[in-house]
Amino acid sequence: MEYLLSIDQGTTSSRATLYAASGAALASASRSLTQHYPNPGWVEHDPQEIWEGQLACISEVIAKAGVEPSQVAGIGITNQRETTVIWERATGRPLHRAIVWQDRRTAELTESLKGQGLESMVRERTGLLLDPYFSATKLSWLLDRVDGLRLRAERGEICFGTVDSWLIFKLSVGKSHLTDISNASRTMLFNIKTLEWDEELLRLFRIPRALLPEVRGSAAGFGHASAQVVGAEIPISGVAGDQQAALFGQGCFAPGMAKATFGTGAFVVMNSGVRPGLSDGALCTIAWQLPGEAVQYALEGSIFIAGAAVQWLQEGLGLIGSAKEVEALAATVPDSAGVYFVPALSGLGTPYWDPYARGVIAGLTRGSTKAHLARAALEAIAFQTLDAIRAMEKASGIPLKELRVDGGAAANNLLLQIQADLLGVPVLRPRCTESTSLGAAFLAGIGAGVLDTSAIAAQWALDRRFEPEMERQRREELHRGWQKCVRLSLGWEKN
Ligand code: G3P
Repeated sequence: MEYLLSIDQGTTSSRATLYAASGAALASASRSLTQHYPNPGWVEHDPQEIWEGQLACISEVIAKAGVEPSQVAGIGITNQRETTVIWERATGRPLHRAIVWQDRRTAELTESLKGQGLESMVRERTGLLLDPYFSATKLSWLLDRVDGLRLRAERGEICFGTVDSWLIFKLSVGKSHLTDISNASRTMLFNIKTLEWDEELLRLFRIPRALLPEVRGSAAGFGHASAQVVGAEIPISGVAGDQQAALFGQGCFAPGMAKATFGTGAFVVMNSGVRPGLSDGALCTIAWQLPGEAVQYALEGSIFIAGAAVQWLQEGLGLIGSAKEVEALAATVPDSAGVYFVPALSGLGTPYWDPYARGVIAGLTRGSTKAHLARAALEAIAFQTLDAIRAMEKASGIPLKELRVDGGAAANNLLLQIQADLLGVPVLRPRCTESTSLGAAFLAGIGAGVLDTSAIAAQWALDRRFEPEMERQRREELHRGWQKCVRLSLGWEKN
């Protein structure tokens, strides 16, 4: 029997799951992660807490499953992307809290670069738009603000990495400073055509080359987790950013196949084949690269607030006792009765890309209730997904035929029905909705030589299919109302 260990380091928690090579999950463990908000719009994580939480999950899962570490054929790592970590090469000591992907502190910098007309050059090379979301401006901010950092970086004493690199470094006890191509494509420093760190972008963001990890394919060798740390030398054989891993775990191997992962945010990713495409609102990103194969590209719609909108109803307004209650509350009304909620709580991503957007609740009447607001929150997730998909369809010229869904909120039947209604295409929920973690295990299985893509595609099994039931006219009318409210939220905080 061969086992695969998947490590899934997300924005709000660290998790580990042990899989049989068939894809059956045998045991899992998780730890929550503290969120630090030192200033409005700033979000940070403690890299040491990430590492310790992840390590605790690994030990727990191996003990729970009752396997020997030496029986694990490969480790797959998947992670919250863009989040920027810096540490000392010699000691592995973090030199600052990680700046999280949601952090908006570099909004002014990205605005000024846009003002200099640099957006199309950046987009041509990286497939990304000038937004504080990506790592480049976060790293540049750190180099400017942390005392002595730039000098030490130039001397090669410092490592930068997204969370995958940080975990690989710690698991290998400082031996490997590596990242995979899908994570590299989210830094805004990686050229998605030449498949190398881009010298001109490094100059633009003033990033010393010596800081950067070496980039490898997604199922290549990433060194070994040390026996000192995990009880046996285990190859790290698969790495991908969490949204790309979910696309892989959902078996979306053909161009046009797409998935949406509903978590804190929602991320819609469509396989777009072997050529990078450009689009106005969506991002072009690297999906993965398998050994001996061409790079696969994807279009992505990034929605910053999805499940977090429901969380805000609970924590910010006290409207519900737990996030799970939202479905029952929203189901007590047949529709939102004209109430809209634009949850631009940390700006808006695809297709608006406005870090200054702020949340809006509109359409209230004397008859509005908390049930309407709960329903409007679910609709907001679906409307944002719809906007992202329309942008991706426009970019690829491929109309969406169906949408595979996963992530925590994919358990919400009402949300999925609303999504199918607004999209006008079926929404498919697989039996396993832990697609991110599964995708990392599959990549590790390919890297370790115990799996191939046909075996992976064959394991995908349907749990439930949600058919669209809404009239087209009604759908379009609701969407127009939504877009009107989005316009209200844009540019809200801009001076
Ligand atoms: O781009 C950010 C994304 O990777 C975060 O995903 O699942 O941690 O919210 P998640």
